[in-house]
Amino acid sequence: MPLLEMKHITKAFSGVYANEDVTLSVEKGEIHALLGENGAGKTTLMNILFGIYQSDGGEIFYKGESVRFKSPADAISHGIGMVHQHFSLVNRMTVLDNIILGSGGKKEVLDRKQASEEICSLAEKYGLFVKPDELVGSLSVGEQQRVEILKALYRKADLLILDEPTGVLTPQETENFFHVLRRLKDEGHGIIIITHRLSEIMAISERVTILRDGKSVKNLVTLNTTPEELSAYMIGRPLSPKTEDRKKTSKEAALSLEGVSLSKKRAGKMALDHICLTVYKGEILGIAGVEGNGQKELAEVITGIRKHTEGNISFDGSAIDSRSVRERFHKGISYISDDRHMDSLVVDMTVTENMILRTYNRLPFSKKWILDYKKAENRALEAIEEYGIRTSGKSGTRTPVKLMSGGNQQKVILSREISKEARLIVASQPTRGLDIGATEFVHQTLIRQKNQGKSVLLISADLDEILTLSDRIAVMFEGRIMGILNREEADVFKIGLYMGGVTEEGGRP
Ligand SMILES: Nc1ncnc2c1ncn2[C@@H]1O[C@H](COP(=O)(O)OP(=O)(O)OP(=O)(O)O)[C@@H](O)[C@H]1O
Ligand SMILES: [Mg+2]
Repeated sequence: MPLLEMKHITKAFSGVYANEDVTLSVEKGEIHALLGENGAGKTTLMNILFGIYQSDGGEIFYKGESVRFKSPADAISHGIGMVHQHFSLVNRMTVLDNIILGSGGKKEVLDRKQASEEICSLAEKYGLFVKPDELVGSLSVGEQQRVEILKALYRKADLLILDEPTGVLTPQETENFFHVLRRLKDEGHGIIIITHRLSEIMAISERVTILRDGKSVKNLVTLNTTPEELSAYMIGRPLSPKTEDRKKTSKEAALSLEGVSLSKKRAGKMALDHICLTVYKGEILGIAGVEGNGQKELAEVITGIRKHTEGNISFDGSAIDSRSVRERFHKGISYISDDRHMDSLVVDMTVTENMILRTYNRLPFSKKWILDYKKAENRALEAIEEYGIRTSGKSGTRTPVKLMSGGNQQKVILSREISKEARLIVASQPTRGLDIGATEFVHQTLIRQKNQGKSVLLISADLDEILTLSDRIAVMFEGRIMGILNREEADVFKIGLYMGGVTEEGGRP
């Protein structure tokens, strides 16, 4: 008897199917991957299972029993746990409080000491190391994820749903995370994992269910399949990546940083420590490094979100140190942030409104204080066409962004920031959450920008992405540039050394 069976699940939003006759089964002790393009219906299916949405049709059997969860609390009480892509932890509370929050249940007084012991023994058993007294806000993303999993296990989950859990992890963290998953599997837990990375599916799962346009098109045993076959079922045709030829970079600087520093209050360390860096016209400069070594701060001092405390930044030959974010944007510096909800989108606004968020007060969208909504709408339609953005239901450009799938939200940002006017694109994790087709498209688009003489500063935790796209690669460690490698001389090993703060001579600088 399977642990979970979902049969003929159907769900429509304003008359358009997000799930149509979907079937999925998961065994005890199985890691089951759920694969599909952006907007294929993966998150919707899991939200139905977890009681966030009610299906319009179909049946769910859990441990052989017909169930229909009315709410997440209902699903949790039956032994289902879900880790959402955007975590739901309270930053200002400790790890312990986050885990026991809301699980006091019937007991009058919650025994904190006993809870703490129980959490420690769970943590030890599965290798989910966290410190119970630490504030969640001070943890790395990888650590926060461990807290989320502990929270589910503390509530006695037998089935874990993980929606794009590796998107935010560094390669090292992913490795650790997979160890944890294997241990959970060996203990008999069922796991459903959503990921766009085929290599991860091949490495971790027993079986794969593929969704296309809301339908389950194929169920495969991982050992008997290949990444090529997976992608063919997912897209409905083989992926034929066409590679743009790369033009040489010019010798003319677009952006220069001279001795740029950003002091950080915490621990007396510098977030950016005398950075000297030039991005040339027609160049993609990759920034590699373990997340949290100053990459975000670098992007923010260049785009003007933060003010550097030392040094000079110039763009196109003139100093921009005291320019605002908006002024820098109108000079041609655009920004794809790694935190799309925080920095890039207003999720309650529509696709059209988000498209003109940076330019609504300018021609052609605004003339003498009057907004030309038709022009804005056309701009959104172009973006939808070019990036293959799936809006929700029949609302098209008027869809509030929050109703769109994660990958499609990212496409809205990409099409706004990679505009004709952009001359330097600061792109942080640009393909995070995108399916393979869309990732390929974004890569080609960035190379095309470069070939047109524009510049790209590419920050990515994905070394393959850095190596594929960059003309030169700068590696950051503790706020410093450890070294810069040319495309031809860069390899994973050299970059790895720099990432760990080791120079080629073997010593620390
Ligand atoms: N609450 C909602 N209201 C309206 N439409 C919705 C809602 N939730 C999801 N949808 C629509 O359902 C479709 C499937 O979305 P879903 O989030 O399930 O995709 P996904 O496979 O998880 O994609 P991604 O890989 O981008 O995360 C999308 O077209 C989305 O806009
Ligand atoms: Mg999703």
